[in-house]
Amino acid sequence: MFRIKTYNQISVKGLNRFPRENYEVASDIGQPDAYMLRSHKLHDEALPATVKAVARAGAGVNNVPVADYTRKGVVVFNAPGANANAVKELVLAGMLLGSRGILPGMRYVQGLTDMTDAEEMSKLLEKEKSRFAGNEVLGKTLGVVGLGAIGSMIAETALALGMKVVGFDPALSVEAAWRLPNQVSRMENLQALLARSDFITLHVPAIDATRHLINGESLKSVKKGAVLLNFAREAIVDATAVVASLDAGQLGKYICDFPEPQLLNRDDVYAMPHIGASTEEAEENCAIMVADQLVDYLENGNVLNS
Ligand code: MLT
Repeated sequence: MFRIKTYNQISVKGLNRFPRENYEVASDIGQPDAYMLRSHKLHDEALPATVKAVARAGAGVNNVPVADYTRKGVVVFNAPGANANAVKELVLAGMLLGSRGILPGMRYVQGLTDMTDAEEMSKLLEKEKSRFAGNEVLGKTLGVVGLGAIGSMIAETALALGMKVVGFDPALSVEAAWRLPNQVSRMENLQALLARSDFITLHVPAIDATRHLINGESLKSVKKGAVLLNFAREAIVDATAVVASLDAGQLGKYICDFPEPQLLNRDDVYAMPHIGASTEEAEENCAIMVADQLVDYLENGNVLNS
């Protein structure tokens, strides 16, 4: 019998991959053989000697002390690409929020609570709607930093929207380069990408080399009024430098999936509560992918995607 301890809500379709006759799966299980989790942070927790593997139902593994666990012989699995489409769709929403007056327009309409007369409301909106005008993305340039599973899907969708796409990835794998649409112009450095882009979207992992990749210095290269999208990880962007660039009128908007106190209460920042991968489909895909890896490892000793 294998014992899996779950943290967070894990999709039932993923949990059903563990054959009942051989597995006990529960959040309060003792002496676990493996952990299955989503965003729960393991850094401050003692690791029971029985644990042989950790399955992270997502792409990033920042919530797992991977180096320490690997030294102790614990295999860490993740689900690369399994939630890429969900993130891609939210980035697209972010880009459209950044180009059109959708949010301020909706907030304005929601605030018209005193209005009872439809005709009066329509007259008022006719007068006021010019305040919520925006721009189209057609013909604009999207800069994609990081051309892995998510970055390349976003590049493809942006091309279908009639945008120009430039990309930069210092660690581009051969497979990723093959996957990339031909129309994506590869830039030789980040500065060149920032100088060309009307929208910049970040899709690199949070590692030492990418910490504050977007900082006061790199932000000097952005086009005036550009929109920066960060649906990857908070640590990639120096939020203080972003606020300074917005205040100086250099960066136009910052749209991100991480609320930080200094980013709240600003009209030029739209922050979401880390919901990039929060779709039913992505949660199922991730849970199924890592559950299958865990079964294969525990039963056959195979290690895939660790
Ligand atoms: C990821 O790394 O794929 C996301 O952070 C997933 C999540 O939100 O759980």
